Amino acid sequence: TELNPIEKSLNNKKILITAGRTEEAVDPVRYLSNRSTGQMGYSLASAAAQLGAEVTLVSGPTNLSVPEGVKNFLQVRSAQEMFDTVMEYYDSQDAAIACAAVADYKVKEYSTHKIKKKDDDMVLVLDRNPDILYEMGQKKNKQFLIGFAAESENLIENATRKLQKKNLDLIVGNLVTYMQSSNNQVTLLKKDGSKIEIPEMKKQELAFNILKEIKF
Ligand code: CTP
Ligand code: CA
Repeated sequence: TELNPIEKSLNNKKILITAGRTEEAVDPVRYLSNRSTGQMGYSLASAAAQLGAEVTLVSGPTNLSVPEGVKNFLQVRSAQEMFDTVMEYYDSQDAAIACAAVADYKVKEYSTHKIKKKDDDMVLVLDRNPDILYEMGQKKNKQFLIGFAAESENLIENATRKLQKKNLDLIVGNLVTYMQSSNNQVTLLKKDGSKIEIPEMKKQELAFNILKEIKF
C-alpha cells in the first residue's frame, strides 16, 4: 500500500529504528515483558523505506512481518541484546528512532532450571537494564535523534524531561492506552521548545508525520 504521495525525502539517509517489546528471561520457560505490539515502530520502518531511507530495524519479539524495503532487519530478545545490536550500527546512522518498549529491569539471577513453586511468597530481585536511548544521546555525532515517551499521566511534563535528559531532537509523547491500538494520538515536543499536537490517526499515517520532522 502506497500511502505517501510525496517525494523521497529520506533518500540515501541511514535510519536506525528500535521496535517491539523486549523479553527478560526468568528461567527457561518464563520471562518479564509488556504489551507492546511493535506496530508503531514497524510503521515508521515501512514509511522510512518508502521515503527512500536505508532502514536498520532492530526489533524485539512481535507477530509482525518485516516491512517491505527494510534493508537490515535484526531480531533480538532482551534489552541487553537490543543495546548491543544498536551500538554496533549507531555510529554510521543519519537518524535514529527509539520506539521499542524496552524492559527497564531484568532479573538479577537467571535460573537455568525451571523454578519450582513453594508454599511461601516468591521474591524476584531485579537489576536495571541499560537505557539504550540515553546512550544514543550520549554518543550522538550527527544523528537526528527521536524518542518516545509512554505515559499514563503528566504527559507533557514527563516527555519534556526525557527529551532533555536523553539529549533528543524530538520526542513523541503518547498515552499508554494506545499501546495495543492501530491508532495513536501524540504530541511532538522539539528541542527548541515548540510543540505540535497531532490528532488521533492510524499509526501508518502518523509515521509519515513524525518522519517529516527529521532535519539533517
Ligand atoms: N528506552 C530505551 N531503553 C530503555 C528504556 C527506554 O531505549 N532501557 C527508550 C524508549 O524506547 C523510549 C524512551 O526511551 O524511546 C522513553 O521510554 P519510557 O519507558 O517512556 O521512559 P523511561 O526513560 O524508561 O522512564 P520511565 O519508564 O520511568 O517513565
Ligand atoms: Ca521505561
